[in-house]
Amino acid sequence: MMESEIEEASRIIAESDYAVVFTGAGVSAESGIPTFRGKDGLWTKYDPEEVASIYGFRRNPKAFWNFSRELMVKMKAKPNPAHYAIAELEKLGIVRAVITQNVDMLHQMAGSKNVLELHGSMEYVDCLDCGRTYRWEFIEKMLEEGLEIRCKCGSEYVKPRVVLFGEPLPSDVLSRAIEESKRCDTFIVIGSSLVVYPAASLPFHAKNSGAKLIIINTEESQADSIFDVVIYGRAGEIMPEIVKRVKKLRGIT
Ligand code: APR
Ligand code: ZN
Repeated sequence: MMESEIEEASRIIAESDYAVVFTGAGVSAESGIPTFRGKDGLWTKYDPEEVASIYGFRRNPKAFWNFSRELMVKMKAKPNPAHYAIAELEKLGIVRAVITQNVDMLHQMAGSKNVLELHGSMEYVDCLDCGRTYRWEFIEKMLEEGLEIRCKCGSEYVKPRVVLFGEPLPSDVLSRAIEESKRCDTFIVIGSSLVVYPAASLPFHAKNSGAKLIIINTEESQADSIFDVVIYGRAGEIMPEIVKRVKKLRGIT
């Protein structure tokens, strides 16, 4: 493990009173949910334009749901130690907000309260033709039974409230995320390649506002050079170790 970097990151976080965590697909990798980029990433097998853009969805919603079947049936996934470690830092009053690009709701399942979902989530699914709304569980059952995803009105344009390529991010969530990034004294990125904007602009907002930046990732991100501490490793292993050291540094048993 990267001993000195972990020690340095733990010290910065222990001294923080307003930390913000920013997560990407990598924080859920150890829950069994595949990431998009890097080795065996989903975008090495699927064309994002076809399966994850609003244009592709309009052309052929079946392609989106087949892709989702692979991703979402994993939605039975449970939070992993990284999610719980982040929730514990919030309970300790250190982390004030979790900004996530993920749509898997695992942060909330692990106990994080203030979660900003930049790319929405799978929680609600709407019929774009008749406006009916379904809860995720209803759709998940159809996915598991291999049924075609259709609305009761017969429409196949049944879309979860996730942000697809070509769609704007929810503006209220994005402005709150920018505010939190500017306000924090420590910005911790976990499991993101930092290639998709505007989400990837948030570390720069934090940097420009004088925050200390930490990244925990298994590979180099697009923005490692702006970080004060760069830790290459698995979030599920590194984060619990950091929480253990932060509690010791704060004299919390
Ligand atoms: N621990 C820490 N980092 C990990 C782990 C792990 N166990 N496993 C993978 N990673 C790292 C990878 O090295 C990679 O850099 O997580 C990063 C995941 O990057 P992406 O797959 O690009 O995911 P993300 O940054 O969330 O993508 C942003 O792109 O496709 C869109 O909308 C989608 O929200 C997604 C956005
Ligand atoms: Zn309908």
